[in-house]
Amino acid sequence: MRWNERMQQHYEEDIRSGGPTYILAIESSCDETAAAVIRDGRVIVSSVVASQMTSHARFGGVVPEVASRAHVEQISVVIDEALVKANRSLEEIQAIAVTSCPGLIGALFVGVTAAKTLAQVAGLPLIGVHHLAGHLYAAALSDGVEPPFLALIVSGGHTELLHVSVEGKIGRLGKTRDDAAGEAFDKIARALDLGYPGGPLIERLANQGDPHYVTFPQAKLGDDSLDFSFSGLKSAVLLHLDRAKRAEQTVRKADIAASFQHAVISVLMAKAKTALQQTGLQTLVVAGGVAANAALREEAKQLCDELHVRLAVPDVWLCTDNAAMIGAAAYVRYKQRKFADLTLTGQAECSIEQW
Ligand code: KG4
Ligand code: ZN
Repeated sequence: MRWNERMQQHYEEDIRSGGPTYILAIESSCDETAAAVIRDGRVIVSSVVASQMTSHARFGGVVPEVASRAHVEQISVVIDEALVKANRSLEEIQAIAVTSCPGLIGALFVGVTAAKTLAQVAGLPLIGVHHLAGHLYAAALSDGVEPPFLALIVSGGHTELLHVSVEGKIGRLGKTRDDAAGEAFDKIARALDLGYPGGPLIERLANQGDPHYVTFPQAKLGDDSLDFSFSGLKSAVLLHLDRAKRAEQTVRKADIAASFQHAVISVLMAKAKTALQQTGLQTLVVAGGVAANAALREEAKQLCDELHVRLAVPDVWLCTDNAAMIGAAAYVRYKQRKFADLTLTGQAECSIEQW
């Protein structure tokens, strides 16, 4: 029997049986090689994340070629471990999901190739997942959030305001016009000689600093705009550091970190507030790597309390890249029977609206 027919048969059997659906999900879009087994899109049965952080730290950022090689070395080990920890064999899995876009192209290919191979060998449905849909559905794992809701996705590669109207249907209300919020954290951390990844290091330092030491610019881009821009803020911090250095003043790193973090969070919250008011949505999801930031989580809570809106934020460990979130998003596609075929490939860029 051909793969397509076997796949349909597997799907029909799963639906007829009425039993739980187990999805094996794979993520390799950037610098984490990850696999997870998820039950019914909500329960994390196992999750394994192999971070390449130490390999990239000495370069001060992710090196695509280093990432691809590390994924090749790790992928089979990580997938095996996820199955072993879940105590399930491939025969006890109902579908294979993988991040297919956006991301580093070489890195994506590794995960997509592994997923296609497994799906074909086991005759299982294959589901391609948009990385940002994964970040957004991480909230479903922690919080059981249901559409409609507004999502603020803040990661190393993206800063976006998304409107999820019905399950799986995502519209984009705003995005960054230049740097992503996480990218700004990483660049400022590098300028302060803190290391990589910058977000958690800035956060730690900011805890000891004065957020009002310097008033850094917060680009609003017009009263109604839901777009973001962080390049002006980044330049202002770099200029401040340069001036201090030339005047041979001591750089108050903690105060600068706190002032920078305050500016980023303020602008994120201002835009989220405008989007909530414009749409009238009653739930806000904040997700992506930067959502691990405690100050951002606290400010989001205050905003939602003020507007009487429900806040859903993934557990801290689910904010940064992992495969559990990919399994959660894939379940939405599974229920809608939206399967990929063997032409599925990694793509560096792709629209969330057509995921
Ligand atoms: O979502 P993610 O793991 O990968 C991408 O899809 O980009 O996000 C990584 C980004 C990095 O820029 C990192 O510095 C930032 O999230 N990040 C944080 C924190 N933890 C991670 N930014 C601020 N505060 C944090 N605690
Ligand atoms: Zn991510």
